[in-house]
Amino acid sequence: MEFMLDSANLKDLEHGMKYYPVDGVTTNPSILKADLPFDYFEQLKAIKALCGARTMHVQLAAEDFDGMMAEAEEIWQQLGKDVYLKIPVTEEGVRAIKEVKSRGGYVTATAIYYPFQGIMAIHAGADYLAPYCNRMENNDIDFVTIIEQLRDLIDRDGYKAKILAASFKNVRQVTAAIYAGAHCVTIQPALLKTAMHSALVSDAVAAFSKDYKTVRQGK
Ligand code: E4P
Repeated sequence: MEFMLDSANLKDLEHGMKYYPVDGVTTNPSILKADLPFDYFEQLKAIKALCGARTMHVQLAAEDFDGMMAEAEEIWQQLGKDVYLKIPVTEEGVRAIKEVKSRGGYVTATAIYYPFQGIMAIHAGADYLAPYCNRMENNDIDFVTIIEQLRDLIDRDGYKAKILAASFKNVRQVTAAIYAGAHCVTIQPALLKTAMHSALVSDAVAAFSKDYKTVRQGK
């Protein structure tokens, strides 16, 4: 599996990469907005530098094909062609996915709420597809079943696409997505902190630590 950080905060990314097995970084305009002010491409370049060999996923904000391709060109020029372009699975987006792939670029198909968007992204050649798990759940869309079925389709027909489950608001959703067959998850640093800071665990560790001191003192 792969594990990514859903953040544009340099301090959080540095911390996450130092402590966890991080394979990539995902951003979108709303995530970037949380860290303003900065120069857009300077910030993305700083994130890319932190990523090194990890994958970096940057969202295209245009809603039409020409605008998406103009943004893709700019990102390729500024950041290099190894960046994964996050392209929403709309009609214009599917056209852009095909075009980016035909030009040798990488695609993370994003804003996936429905099975058919996933199917279309897989067949259009997307490298990753990002179902928005919490947003789906908020709208009574069963993301677990959809991930299971998309994974079956990928495996059955031998597609290369990987499911990059995104938009999590609790740890339960993350584990559910992984067990359903997501190849990859992207998590906000705050949620990662919640996942790794349980009172049950820290109480157990503290008790062992205390007993160890007693044992070493031999009394
Ligand atoms: C990441 O690729 C997605 O854009 C992100 O996880 C969406 O998260 P949100 O639903 O919290 O905005």
